[in-house]
Amino acid sequence: MNTVGIGLLGAGTVGGTLIRRLVTEHAAIAAKTGLDLQVRRVAVRDFAKKRDLDLPDGVVTTDAIGLIDDPQVELVVEVMGGQDPAGDLVLRALEAGKPVVTANKELIAARGSELIAAAERSGVALLFEAAVGGGIPIIRPLSETLAGERLTRVMGIVNGTTNFILTRMTEDGTAYADALEQAQELGYAEPDPTADVGGADAAAKAAILASLAFGTWVGLDNVRHEGITEITATDIRYAADLGYVIKLLAIAEDTVNGVSARVHPVLLPLDHPLAAIRGATNAIFIEGPAIDQLLFAGPGAGGDPTATAVLGDVIDAARETLAGAQVAPRIRFSPSPLADFGAVPTKWYIRLEVADRPGVLAQVAAGFGEADVSIKSVWQEGTDNEATLLIVTHRAPEARQQNALAAIRQMDCVNAVAAAIRVESEEP
Ligand SMILES: NC(=O)c1ccc[n+]([C@@H]2O[C@H](COP(=O)([O-])OP(=O)(O)OC[C@H]3O[C@@H](n4cnc5c(N)ncnc54)[C@H](OP(=O)(O)O)[C@@H]3O)[C@@H](O)[C@H]2O)c1
Repeated sequence: MNTVGIGLLGAGTVGGTLIRRLVTEHAAIAAKTGLDLQVRRVAVRDFAKKRDLDLPDGVVTTDAIGLIDDPQVELVVEVMGGQDPAGDLVLRALEAGKPVVTANKELIAARGSELIAAAERSGVALLFEAAVGGGIPIIRPLSETLAGERLTRVMGIVNGTTNFILTRMTEDGTAYADALEQAQELGYAEPDPTADVGGADAAAKAAILASLAFGTWVGLDNVRHEGITEITATDIRYAADLGYVIKLLAIAEDTVNGVSARVHPVLLPLDHPLAAIRGATNAIFIEGPAIDQLLFAGPGAGGDPTATAVLGDVIDAARETLAGAQVAPRIRFSPSPLADFGAVPTKWYIRLEVADRPGVLAQVAAGFGEADVSIKSVWQEGTDNEATLLIVTHRAPEARQQNALAAIRQMDCVNAVAAAIRVESEEP
């Protein structure tokens, strides 16, 4: 039998599920792949914690370094999360010539370039299918299947918590705070949801997607991110009236000024494939001249879907381990210019509270004109002495849009810029 010894760093939601699958589905995996995958060591933080794992005595340890150095461990799975100590442990394993499978987007976004170089020096694989989109196969399609395509854009709903919250706000008119509470009750959101609702979690995934799609390493510092905390049920309603739904998107684009990666809420036309992605589901939409458009959708988190992605990587790396060959990286990165965010073309939906008197619309329009931003459409609703203006601009560089917004905020006739959200549509 082709036996490969596995060491797991972490036995929580993903690691625990993976261990149970490796034990209970051992025969089925062996029948399908010809591999005898053996869990040799499992490192955890708290040895005393009760765990429902069917493992022989002596397998679970708190000695993570000992696990990596154990000659019986031929392949390391990192599912402990965070950068420290996960980063140094992964590096140690790679330097020892052991392939590593990780689900850790935070680590790959922060140190991926360094770790991939270490894997290349040792001629072993570093695989991270579960780091973006949980159970959705997306890393392998981007870095291998689509390696021959000149991709132009990748857009993803890569954070289930925020998509769940926005879906509740859209479908039931639920207020943001109540939708967040529901997400927490259902276990979709962490007790501290900052990384999800503020966009940082999606930013790490955007950095990875952009790097793989365009073959140039995009660091986390190069990803501009905004979250959904300012989104109101009012704008979701107005957006629907205008034919849009509001989504939090990770966008990686090959622009004329270079590669751009960003995360922010957008108004998306109702007929866009990503507009139909509801609840905690994740989806990644890929565009290129030859493949046209591809949509990958499915469960973006959860022990079982994520463990399936990790297991696929384990099987892939185990085959290479048995073949004993030096492994070349799945994808190579070369330096390429990154676009300045101010130069990225964006278009905007803007909701203004203005004085309801003649000449206001002309004054606001002039403000946009002076910033060299043209207006695509305007709707006005009057209420007593106040009016609501809904403006959608044409596409213009982000910096010009920001100049227009700054000028409009200063106008006497403008009581408030109540909302400003980017629009993602094919129209100019
Ligand atoms: N959960 C998901 O749905 C999901 C989806 C996609 C990707 N991921 C990624 O998968 C990774 C694991 O997530 P998870 O949800 O499984 O996390 P988790 O439930 O918190 O489990 C973490 C595990 O790592 C162990 N651990 C943490 N720090 C350690 C240390 N310093 N030394 C030794 N062991 C340590 C913990 O030990 P104890 O058990 O003793 O506490 C625990 O077993 C993360 O990178 C996450 O981003 C998760």
